[in-house]
Amino acid sequence: MAARGIVAIYATIRVQEPRAHQPCDEATMTVSPFLTLHELIKKARQKLNHDNWDYIVGGAETETTVRRNRLALDSIAFRPRVLRDVSRIDASTKFLGRPLRLPVVLAPVGGLEHFATEAGGAAAKAAEEFGIAHMLSSVCLPGLEAVAQAAPEALRMYQLYVHGDAGWVDAMAERALAAGYAAFCLTVDTAFYSRRERDLAKRNIRRDNVPGREFQARLDWNDVARLKAKFALPLILKGVATAEDAKLALEHGVDIIYVSNHGGRQLDHGRGAMDILPEIVAAVGGRAPIIIDGGFNRGTDIVKALAAGADLVGIGRMQCVGLAADGQPGLVRLLEILEQEVRTCLGLLGVTCWSELDGSYLHPAPAVDPGHTLGAFPLLTLEEKSFY
Ligand code: FNR
Repeated sequence: MAARGIVAIYATIRVQEPRAHQPCDEATMTVSPFLTLHELIKKARQKLNHDNWDYIVGGAETETTVRRNRLALDSIAFRPRVLRDVSRIDASTKFLGRPLRLPVVLAPVGGLEHFATEAGGAAAKAAEEFGIAHMLSSVCLPGLEAVAQAAPEALRMYQLYVHGDAGWVDAMAERALAAGYAAFCLTVDTAFYSRRERDLAKRNIRRDNVPGREFQARLDWNDVARLKAKFALPLILKGVATAEDAKLALEHGVDIIYVSNHGGRQLDHGRGAMDILPEIVAAVGGRAPIIIDGGFNRGTDIVKALAAGADLVGIGRMQCVGLAADGQPGLVRLLEILEQEVRTCLGLLGVTCWSELDGSYLHPAPAVDPGHTLGAFPLLTLEEKSFY
């Protein structure tokens, strides 16, 4: 990693905006049988059939991008500072003017209805109950109005796959505005639906034949500019993976850059998301907030992202795990454990709030795990069913 110049980049990156200080309360943990994240994963695995498990954990073709997401995070060690008063820690932040208990958004996930009662409604309610942001996928039931009703107080954003012409897109944006969504997101790394071999090998064909898929492949920067000019809603581009496209996004009026390789589910042999982040932070230069996702499964992962200049971290598969394990309470519990991990990490780094954190707390290091979707959970056992 040193050869890639990442040390110098991390050392110079500073969190741009001072983040809001809020009263520092110990998290109120709900009464729950789950004490660790891997216990939730084991429960989810027990409850899910093989098809749904593979749909969640799988990626495109060789799944190299999936593994690189973990490898990129695991290749960073911390440089902790000591003898600072860390008796009060504030892990909260603000996004789009709204306070959040953690700098986390539930990433858009399609098809939650296959394994979670209430689907997107349960995820949004968990986000509302815990106090983080939620982004609803346009291919997740029960649809944008019902989810808005289920979680009226949550910071809700709406993500669209473009399956129609400009009139169709405008109608979706108008519905999102009317339903009180705080931002509109176009996912732009899905010109083609990838070859997910775990699904294909079982003849479990999910989205190849969705009507209107060709509109997603035709998208270009003119569509982004048109949308931005027509609607006042903050616009997010999800799937930005180069500095060049981050700059183009800003030139076309995009308000928030969402760094993502779709959790390794689209382009195979992409870079790990955390390896992409430094060049995006440098290109954006503090002109727009940055969301990142891809392999962020632990509190330490969230801390690494913020130290490297991200503002919000998206949680994809772990959201599915929490919901599959125990519905809305399972997801809230997962967030509580993540929060405990974040707070513990910040305190052990000698940091009491996000504005004190920067790239000087990060250092390249050899990964101890070869990289796997669940590589962050070495204590998973393989007693009953395979996790791999
Ligand atoms: C996704 N993702 C996704 N992204 C998107 O923009 N729209 C969508 O409908 C979906 N659907 C979806 C389904 C499932 C089951 C998963 C796991 C993921 C991608 C998601 O938003 C996010 O980019 C990744 O999941 C982040 O990586 P991790 O956290 O899963 O490693």
